[in-house]
Amino acid sequence: MKAVVYQGPRTVEVKDVPDARVEQPNDAVIRITTTNICGSDLHMYEGRTAVEEGKVLGHENMGIVEEVGPGVERVKVGDRVSVPFNIACGSCRNCEHGWTSFCLRTNPTEGVDGAAYGYANMGPYDGGQAEFLRVPHADFNLLELPQGTEHENDFTMLSDVFPTGWHGVELSGMAPGDTVAVFGAGPVGLMAAHAAVLKGASQVFVVDEEADRLALAGRFGATPVDFSAGDPVQQILEATGGQGVDRGVEAVGYQAHDHTGEEHPELVLDNLVQVVRSAGGIGVVGVYVPQDPGAATEGAKEGRIGFDYGTFFTKGQQMGTGQAPVKRYNRQLRDLVVAGRATPGIIVSHELGLEQAVEGYARFDAREDGWTKVLLHPGAAAAPA
Ligand SMILES: NC(=O)c1ccc[n+]([C@@H]2O[C@H](COP(=O)([O-])OP(=O)(O)OC[C@H]3O[C@@H](n4cnc5c(N)ncnc54)[C@H](O)[C@@H]3O)[C@@H](O)[C@H]2O)c1
Ligand SMILES: [Zn+2]
Ligand SMILES: [Zn+2]
Repeated sequence: MKAVVYQGPRTVEVKDVPDARVEQPNDAVIRITTTNICGSDLHMYEGRTAVEEGKVLGHENMGIVEEVGPGVERVKVGDRVSVPFNIACGSCRNCEHGWTSFCLRTNPTEGVDGAAYGYANMGPYDGGQAEFLRVPHADFNLLELPQGTEHENDFTMLSDVFPTGWHGVELSGMAPGDTVAVFGAGPVGLMAAHAAVLKGASQVFVVDEEADRLALAGRFGATPVDFSAGDPVQQILEATGGQGVDRGVEAVGYQAHDHTGEEHPELVLDNLVQVVRSAGGIGVVGVYVPQDPGAATEGAKEGRIGFDYGTFFTKGQQMGTGQAPVKRYNRQLRDLVVAGRATPGIIVSHELGLEQAVEGYARFDAREDGWTKVLLHPGAAAAPA
């Protein structure tokens, strides 16, 4: 089958790889109808992770069940399904408590709990930017979708960015009526803004410098803040009568940069500590890594990010962080889509064939104007042999 393979910094190729197949009794194989390129993939693409060459990428996957193993009872061949990016066993202590993003069983990597498809340090699993994908523990992991092709661009956000944005808002402790500042207007930040509005925020600010992305924030009912036009903290303080906001969401990650493009991994954390009121909360879903070969400082190479912890303590804020447990939210978010209340698919800017993935990666990575969210459609393909 054809798949998108990581070949080294800023190099991906669409290559023939062995077909995905049932390897364990609880596996299913999915024929991918839509698979997305994620901002998280760009950390690997840019050579800023320890991902190995030859890895099949892609953790935002949906499609049709092609084959199931003998231990699969609930999921049936022909079902239309969303695949959460987390690979979880369903029965370990963390899975039992709803923390499928920290499954104790599925990732053999020393010191890392939680597994994912096609991702650095997240276990030996191939990604779904391919014609077919192997899904372990299929009965537990797969979310069923209405048959047909309706809402494809909305449902494809259920694998990662919509639940992740929602999780960022949850971690911030937001309650109805709160004001919220979201940093980053990439897909995750935009989904956090959508979530905050759906959950009843009284005002939502979204900070970025990309005009096209800020315009999308406006479509979700948020107030855009352009950090290239001045300090975003000052802009939000002015807009809130000096109060700041009740809650903040970090949707940028360790490659945060200033308006000149220079990277400062602590910049957004500092901004959030400043702009969130005392006793307020911060949800960090932007990714930070324990090893960053491309970091500017020795500390940052080992994931040591010096942010303004003193003020964080003085203000008595709380912070939650980590990979999102997609299963905790995806069923309800699917139903908000079906009910017409959630429209995550409006962030989609490009729909490409699998063969165009090389171009898709390059242009999304360059944050080219208008390249907000790229979907790949591997298309109808022959069943795996
Ligand atoms: N926790 C999780 O489960 C999870 C899941 C998916 C993605 N992520 C992470 O979330 C982050 C965002 O993902 P994405 O797909 O939206 O990525 P993206 O790269 O498309 O978006 C990041 C945005 O941040 C903006 N930005 C950069 N510096 C900034 C600053 N100083 N202030 C405000 N905005 C700034 C960029 O212009 C860009 O638009 C990434 O780190 C990604 O790895 C985490
Ligand atoms: Zn993703
Ligand atoms: Zn588990």
